[in-house]
Amino acid sequence: MKYEKWLKNKELEYLEDTLHFGGMNVIDLAERYGTPVYIINEQLLRKRYKELKSLLDNTYKKNEIHYAVKANSNLSVLSILNSEGASFDCSSVGEIHACFKAGIKPEKIFYTGNMFTNEDFKYAIENNVRINLDSVSQISRLARMYDGLDNKKQTFSVRFNPEFGAGHHPHTITGGRNIKFGILEEQMVEAYSLARELGFETFGTHMHIGSGIIDAQDYQKATEKYLSTITRVSETLGISFDFVDFGGGLGIPYRPDQDPLDLQAYNNIVIDQFKTLVNRGTIGEPTLKIEPGRYIAGEASVLITQINTIKNNGYKLFAGVNAGFNTLVRPTMYGSYHHIVPCVKTNGSNILSYDIVGPICESGDVLGKERGITELKEGDYLAVLDAGAYGFTMSSPYNSRPRPAEILINMGNSYLVRKAESYDDLLELQKIPDYLK
Ligand code: LLP
Repeated sequence: MKYEKWLKNKELEYLEDTLHFGGMNVIDLAERYGTPVYIINEQLLRKRYKELKSLLDNTYKKNEIHYAVKANSNLSVLSILNSEGASFDCSSVGEIHACFKAGIKPEKIFYTGNMFTNEDFKYAIENNVRINLDSVSQISRLARMYDGLDNKKQTFSVRFNPEFGAGHHPHTITGGRNIKFGILEEQMVEAYSLARELGFETFGTHMHIGSGIIDAQDYQKATEKYLSTITRVSETLGISFDFVDFGGGLGIPYRPDQDPLDLQAYNNIVIDQFKTLVNRGTIGEPTLKIEPGRYIAGEASVLITQINTIKNNGYKLFAGVNAGFNTLVRPTMYGSYHHIVPCVKTNGSNILSYDIVGPICESGDVLGKERGITELKEGDYLAVLDAGAYGFTMSSPYNSRPRPAEILINMGNSYLVRKAESYDDLLELQKIPDYLK
């Protein structure tokens, strides 16, 4: 794919040599709101959601897309997706709380936690949120909790680990025997049988094999095993499923030489196989669910940062910026590639190689290694692309650096949707005991 088209797919383009995102001049935004700053593009969020929704609608009407809140939990992002009719995948009580704050109804939420505490269960039960278990041992604990709180048991569901995983980094692969998530094939019949004995009357099922999957083929083996395993559960126990959840994981093209995930191939591998099974009539007529986070939110934000220092140490050129791994940890944590572009395009042919580094006191604070860019100057702005998923949500105040602002852009307007933290915000929860004063 041509580079300009690759950018255009992410609603990025240079107009009179200045970078525009969703039609808005990013330098104007940087100057108005300060940097670093995350810019969230409302129309692109909506577009990505709709792409997936129409893909599912065309193959299997009874479907729900649960947006994975962990990717980007900004309340405006949640409200936008809620207005599109999305459902939500939460991994913690904190994420459920955020959904409620954004006006999302409990029946739209599915709580896939792991290592649940009794407090987690209690919160979900009291708030009518469906829970997706992660271990056989949790089944009777959850049943007791429902009984103790005198609440009717909601649909029972447990996460299946198909032992085939995929993802952009070992830390994001969630299928495999040595991996903490879900239960294995041999435990599935036992789990549903126990749930039925304990009084659960309706059943769903769940699988998530990993995150950052750009080749749809990676879903093949896991999907086959998932479908054959839930068929066995249905046949052995004579139960049908209200829903079958295939998790998220759909990747985005972070590198200019990558094409987007082939949605048609994903459809053929996952959705079609599921539909064929449903047509056989063994597992009932379940709702099909998927849980994309990155696919919806990833490309919908860029992080704008400003260069404060150009350093040539005689061996290497460094462009020092005001965003570090406190602001965007993915490059440091996973070695992830984020494409970085200057906000003003220079037409020179002299390409230099820069390490783009942040202000954190660690050598690993590198946002981009050996990037070929035309000459940069102190004061220039850079855009770090595809920062919308696991960008702000994984940021931290390390080195006592406040988290940046998030702004939302829509149809030529911009809105501050999260203020930049202040130094006082960082200290707000601390107390010095009197004897130290
Ligand atoms: N469903 C479940 C149960 C998950 O655990 C996850 C992600 C998702 C859905 C959404 O996955 P997605 O569609 O966004 O790939 N911090 C890492 C990604 C960790 C993902 C954890 N679980 C990163 O920055 O790449």
